[in-house]
Amino acid sequence: MGSTRPSPELQEKSLLFAAATMAGVLLSLLTPATSAVAYDHKAIIVNGQRRILFSGSIHYPRSSPEMWADLIEKAKDGGLDVIQTYVFWNGHEPSPGQYYFEDRYDLVRFIKLVQQAGLYVNLRIGPYICAEWNFGGFPVWLKYVPGIKFRTDNEPFKAAMKNFTVKIVSMMKSEGLFEWQGGPIILCQVENEFGPLEWDQGEPAKAYAAWAAQMATGLDTGVPWIMCKEDDAPDPIINTWNGFYGDYFSPNQPYKPTMFTEAWTGWFTGFGGPVPHRPVEDLAFSIAKFIQKGGSFANYYMYHGGTNFGRTAGGPFIATSYDYDAPIDEFGLLRQPKWGHLKDLHRAIKLSETALISGDPIVKSLGNSQESHVFRSNSGDCAAFLANYDTQFYGKVTFNGLHYDLPPWSISILPDCKTTIFNTAKVGAQTSLMKMNPVGNFSWLSYSDDINFDDDKSFTFVGLLEQLNVTRDSTDYLWYRTNVDIAENESFLKSGAYPILTVMSAGHSLNVFINGQLAGSAYAGLQDPRLTYSGSVKLWAGNNIISILSASVGLPNVGEHFESWNIGVLGPVTLNGLNEGRRDLTSQTWTYQIGLKGEALNLHTLSGSSSVEWGELLPKQPLTWYKAFFNAPEGNDPLAIDMISMGKGQLWINGQSIGRYWPGYIATGDCSPCDYRGEFNETKCQSNCGAPSQRWYHVPRSWLNPTGNLMVLFEEWAGDPTGISMATRNVGSICAHVSEWQPSMISWRTKDYKNPKVHLSCEQGKRMTTIKFASFGNPQGACGYYSVGNCHANKSYDVFVKKCLGQQLCSVAVISEVFGGDPCPGVLKASAVEAICE
Ligand code: GAL
Repeated sequence: MGSTRPSPELQEKSLLFAAATMAGVLLSLLTPATSAVAYDHKAIIVNGQRRILFSGSIHYPRSSPEMWADLIEKAKDGGLDVIQTYVFWNGHEPSPGQYYFEDRYDLVRFIKLVQQAGLYVNLRIGPYICAEWNFGGFPVWLKYVPGIKFRTDNEPFKAAMKNFTVKIVSMMKSEGLFEWQGGPIILCQVENEFGPLEWDQGEPAKAYAAWAAQMATGLDTGVPWIMCKEDDAPDPIINTWNGFYGDYFSPNQPYKPTMFTEAWTGWFTGFGGPVPHRPVEDLAFSIAKFIQKGGSFANYYMYHGGTNFGRTAGGPFIATSYDYDAPIDEFGLLRQPKWGHLKDLHRAIKLSETALISGDPIVKSLGNSQESHVFRSNSGDCAAFLANYDTQFYGKVTFNGLHYDLPPWSISILPDCKTTIFNTAKVGAQTSLMKMNPVGNFSWLSYSDDINFDDDKSFTFVGLLEQLNVTRDSTDYLWYRTNVDIAENESFLKSGAYPILTVMSAGHSLNVFINGQLAGSAYAGLQDPRLTYSGSVKLWAGNNIISILSASVGLPNVGEHFESWNIGVLGPVTLNGLNEGRRDLTSQTWTYQIGLKGEALNLHTLSGSSSVEWGELLPKQPLTWYKAFFNAPEGNDPLAIDMISMGKGQLWINGQSIGRYWPGYIATGDCSPCDYRGEFNETKCQSNCGAPSQRWYHVPRSWLNPTGNLMVLFEEWAGDPTGISMATRNVGSICAHVSEWQPSMISWRTKDYKNPKVHLSCEQGKRMTTIKFASFGNPQGACGYYSVGNCHANKSYDVFVKKCLGQQLCSVAVISEVFGGDPCPGVLKASAVEAICE
């Protein structure tokens, strides 16, 4: 009788065959067949197409996963094609071989969200990343691998670096995230700005750079690798540029594209420093200048800066806010007009794309400081950039027989070589005035941290110990304690001229206690982490205890061999003004305790905080823990804690660390008025001088429950928690000021050249409820304080009320007909409007 069942051998064979096929399929899934992403001298080529790509940096651990989709959507809406992120090694491998990819470190989830939005990813694996991130992204344990030296031709370092890079690349492959697998990753980066170090360090550095390049390309990612600021990047790696401007840069081979991996949108804030801003007119100018030169990839660093939660800030002294003056602010709201003006820039450049990718520009002088850059395609497309580099005056130029007026320090874009549809200095996008609205205070209980040491947790040592070696960065804090005997016959005991205690520390801040009483504090700053405490100390006859709480404020992330920099009280520690003159305490016996008692008790968590008795509020006490319960404010607006009344410390909500706070550090620096014209640098347009460098601390909404949230803070100085409040952040007013001659996209598309429009838009879910101001004529002032000029159409207000009130979006043409006729013929007119969205 015939059987339909296969024989056992046949079964085995077909199983083997199936397994082999599966393996084959798997293998083909994990090795790039033909590269879908390539490059030539002009551009990155995706699926056979040269592309002009706009990219923006969004660092996944600097926001909550619940914010990611919205940030990515806003980036897409702003005209970006690519999201760039670093990979944060110390977040992913907190101890050797123990990996973490959850929550804010869920890299795969982040990349998949970018993919769902239809954008590409530029993955900067590093694993050295700089980034104002603790230790430049290196795990602290790496420093203690025997024989290690960072970022040089050193075997233990190279082994660890390779191990992590392989880990990330394999993870991306197995998740199918490279472009040839149908994923979004089109570019990878190895190392970060190694060129300048290589220059200083010579041979071993050169060997290391070559090794890093080879190691990376050997991983078969199927997408190009880049090395930023690395003139030496060997083929096939593309060397790219980082800076405020990128137009002087050319890659190291004529067959590589010109790429700007970090166009700095602003700059970071340091505790003690003012808050930097970069005018969008200058940022747009920089990008247009880069594209007109032939550049084809520009990444905004940062597009959303976000927050250095926990103790992730580098530095030292990098603030908790990493807002960066980016197009999307720290809280995830659009920064307008920055976001909108760049969106307009991207549209203008994308309309020119066919001509731009076809070849190199023809550059001609149009005057002393004026130039044209013209791109043409074989099929007849023509796009032109008209630039005026003069920092003071308009450039009146003739181009192809037509006249153009170019504002100072600006570039006009003409996607058809005739019509100006965008000028970098003429901002048509709406402005948003942001508001912080106080929504409630807290009822606090307090708990004093203990200045006395636990015998089982402390240890003694003769001499002073370096802090990082002792704490391994498990905490910001290290206690140093020593005894001082004062004889009965010390003359200061009678005269009252107390001795001076001098404490030299390698960083970053400290509190000094004499016999349990706070004697004073000292701290360093961004420029130099070292500090000296010097103050008179009330010692008594007999035994005195000097206790010093040394605090670190973020490990360095940049600089030559930053891993070897020290922290903590390294001495000398001296007492001056004794009968014997000077007594050196440096080499005597010191007792150490790592961290605070409250840290050991986990007071920041719900369970830890209920393990101790909290007392009535004790305001203005140093080394004090405070806790309060609160309900989430209504609505969806982003939240912040206003810490204005506090000194220095750390803050947690429901066990999650909001970060270090330090409103007691007042910003000093140059806050003179800002003019977009002329070369920008990070100190040019700063604000906040004379005020705390950072007053508000972002609380992600998703960290809150509707009721019963626990807030805990630890105050090092003697701040007053009764002044702390919760605030929501939203858009107060939206404004637009558009002139009759504003270059306009829409009008260009409809070929209706002289018809610019005011466009207003409220955030999702909000509508315009009030028109605060409207004038078609020659309105004066700026958003928040417009006034009517001597030319004003009486119907201005009615027109905006009719078109905009109750709407989320509205557009009104800036032409006399709309406003019932020309209020002042012969005068150049504009519309200015201010509205409120609710
Ligand atoms: C760059 C570096 C970035 C970041 C930036 C300043 O040099 O590559 O990681 O540190 O400077 O914000």
